[in-house]
Amino acid sequence: MSLNIKHLLGLKDVPKNDIQLILDTATTFREVLERPIKKVPTLKGTTIVNLFYENSTRTRLSFELAEKRLSADTLNFTTSNSSTKKGETFKDTVRNIEAMKIDMIVVRHQSAGVPHYLTKISNASIINAGDGRHEHPTQALLDMYSIREKIGKLNNLNVCIVGDISHSRVALSNIFGLITMGAKVSVCAPPTMLPKNIEQFGVKIFHDINKAVAENDVVNVLRIQLERDAGNTIPSLREYHNYFGITGDVIERNNKDILILHPGPINRGVEISSEVADGPYQIILDQVTNGVAIRMAVLYLLGTMN
Ligand code: CP
Repeated sequence: MSLNIKHLLGLKDVPKNDIQLILDTATTFREVLERPIKKVPTLKGTTIVNLFYENSTRTRLSFELAEKRLSADTLNFTTSNSSTKKGETFKDTVRNIEAMKIDMIVVRHQSAGVPHYLTKISNASIINAGDGRHEHPTQALLDMYSIREKIGKLNNLNVCIVGDISHSRVALSNIFGLITMGAKVSVCAPPTMLPKNIEQFGVKIFHDINKAVAENDVVNVLRIQLERDAGNTIPSLREYHNYFGITGDVIERNNKDILILHPGPINRGVEISSEVADGPYQIILDQVTNGVAIRMAVLYLLGTMN
């Protein structure tokens, strides 16, 4: 079995068979991660560059670890210690890196569309590790994997994405992926944190967190992206927490069977209370563990295509 896609730029238009294949392949790699020697020779001889123009903890380390677990050769590029600081353009940087004979590029960038642009200027296989407010496909894949692992299915599941939807690439990738896999997707946020015409993606809208928690099986909680000016969309973080924060009270009043996800990083006491972030309803660190397996699956499937 092989993928229909050559690059992973987003989950929009990725067929169900491809998502299914990535999730199933990740199950095999999840088992590898439990072995005493957590390494396979699958991508020996493949060179991968992690091109990170924006900060990251989970995604960057998780890709790097996945590459090492697959025995690939890995290069790490970050802007802070590169010749970008000397005025080199993005295109020149990429062409110089490509001249070193690399096979795959994992890219995170603050501008939407950069992974698509890379497919025009590079012959490498491109994986989007988050582009601006656009998409973060491996995050959505690991979220779907984690839900399926815990509940056993995605089809017909009610999943609500809560928080700063308008600045979120995680939200869009989750909406596309979950709908393709048959889930019923909703969003819950103040009107100022929702993109115009969000309904066009086939999602239901909640403005009441109690209803959202009561009527869903899964809630995926998003951080307020203050670095993208999201603070201007609400009166204060305290008010946001009072009306939209996921707390023990909200869960216990409305739905004790709820499953809570969060892509991280968490802002404790804002979108989620510490009680919930460390409590029995959440699977936040399982998501991080599964992220390595999902990235191994994506790298393996794209890296072994002819
Ligand atoms: N979830 C996520 O993308 O986290 P990082 O920004 O730390 O990679």
